Amino acid sequence: MSTHKTRLAVFCSGSGSNFQAIFHALKKKQLNAEIVLCLSNRAHCGAMEFARRNGIATVHLTEKQLNSFDDFAAAMLRCLREQSIGIIVLAGYMRKVPDAVVAAFHDKIINIHPALLPKFGGEGMYGIYVHTAVLEAGETESGATVHLVNEEYDKGKILMQRHVAVLPDDTPETLAERVLACEHILYPDALEKFLAEQQL
Ligand code: GAR
Repeated sequence: MSTHKTRLAVFCSGSGSNFQAIFHALKKKQLNAEIVLCLSNRAHCGAMEFARRNGIATVHLTEKQLNSFDDFAAAMLRCLREQSIGIIVLAGYMRKVPDAVVAAFHDKIINIHPALLPKFGGEGMYGIYVHTAVLEAGETESGATVHLVNEEYDKGKILMQRHVAVLPDDTPETLAERVLACEHILYPDALEKFLAEQQL
């Protein structure tokens, strides 16, 4: 195995609890990778504050800062190249990654989704909306999925899943809480396996 550490960028929009789980797991498991960049569309979300507290470079980038979506994609690519990023980890990033970035990082972008894909994925299916849809469909189990990112929402190759029972008295919020706890185990495990395959 190479001694060169894979440089990870984590994209977030929210509290960043998956980011934190990955950050701690990389250290604990002594994985051959380090998070060197946190990119977010929200300057002061929990994830960005965590990055700042831990000496990780932060980039606040939104489409509104640029004249066009192409310029936005180019700015994103520039940040990634400046930091020599090898793998992008989406952890609660609530924006679509531009196609130009997906193409430049083919099979190098992973995402976590709070349901058992291919069910309950696609545009508009994120956060609490996912859990509401799972309950409305009368599912008896849900869970989380780590998958590769391609040009279509939640359609990339599934890498790993973890199941969670849906309880009779679940609300979207209680289900979200249990799924999130399972994500914190799943994402580090899936990333470890993914890195091992990349670094063979
Ligand atoms: C997680 O539940 C993640 O699966 C979900 O957002 C939450 C982020 O929480 N992502 C999506 O819905 C993407 N489609 P976090 O900021 O605490 O990691």
